[in-house]
Amino acid sequence: MDKENLKKNFWTNGYAVIRSVYSQDQILRFRNFIKKEGQEIVGSEQKDWRKLEGKGLKDVLSYEELRDAILNETLLKSIKYIFDDEEICYWGYSRFRYNEKTYRNIHNDAKSDYQNPFKTKYPIVRIGIYLQDHKNFSDGLKIFKKSCHSTKLGRTLLRKIIKEKELRYLLPQRFNSINADTQAGDIIIWNLRTCHSANALRLKYFKNLSLRPTIENFLEKYLPQILLPKENDRAVIFSDFGKMSQSLIDYIRNNLKQPGVYNPIKNSNFLIDEIISESRKLGLNILDIKKYEKE
Ligand SMILES: [Fe+2]
Repeated sequence: MDKENLKKNFWTNGYAVIRSVYSQDQILRFRNFIKKEGQEIVGSEQKDWRKLEGKGLKDVLSYEELRDAILNETLLKSIKYIFDDEEICYWGYSRFRYNEKTYRNIHNDAKSDYQNPFKTKYPIVRIGIYLQDHKNFSDGLKIFKKSCHSTKLGRTLLRKIIKEKELRYLLPQRFNSINADTQAGDIIIWNLRTCHSANALRLKYFKNLSLRPTIENFLEKYLPQILLPKENDRAVIFSDFGKMSQSLIDYIRNNLKQPGVYNPIKNSNFLIDEIISESRKLGLNILDIKKYEKE
């Protein structure tokens, strides 16, 4: 996909996929490293990584074996282009997951976001580097198209409708989902306002049908024979990036309050000259999250 289409898709649908970013060697190295580290951290069974509260983890740049997953020209140029070529920031919110316990629920990850989703562009993205085939297998990412322009049902939504007289908020924008067809080497970028769900399931005979998470849970329990399996143990790298703005500062301040997010950043060592200057060459501005602590 050319960069103009990537940008258009991203701001219209709330996500975009960049294909074939990493070489086979990189994919293998990332997978092997994540498996080895992951098993050292949680053992070989599927575990709830959220319960770790970040203990024993660092950001992705702190691991030399994974650093080029983030410090990648194609990736960073694409994000920059999405944000009109303005500088993009990284503050250490990145992590890998291996063979994680299954969670399925529709949610978005924007925090302290009080702006109108129809009139503003949320300046923070998350990338997912899913290091296996999710086109022909299960366990990839489910994305709700255009849901970056909606807010959760509830009081906030009601207040917005009354205050801003925007009946568009009532449109069911969280129903049109797709299961991302990423393969090893691809990157999916989504806006933090975009609703999504993890561990998406594919049916054997209607491979491209995207079901709601509650239905997926039901089928997994009672009719697993009609589902496609996962290709491999699930190894994934996630990272957040943002354009400097009040929304980003609000988001970072929220990160500081969450042990699961802040602990790995505290354990990290990405604030060293070598990484800062390498990042700068690629147009990435490294922030020291501690500076936002007491402001
Ligand atoms: Fe999420």
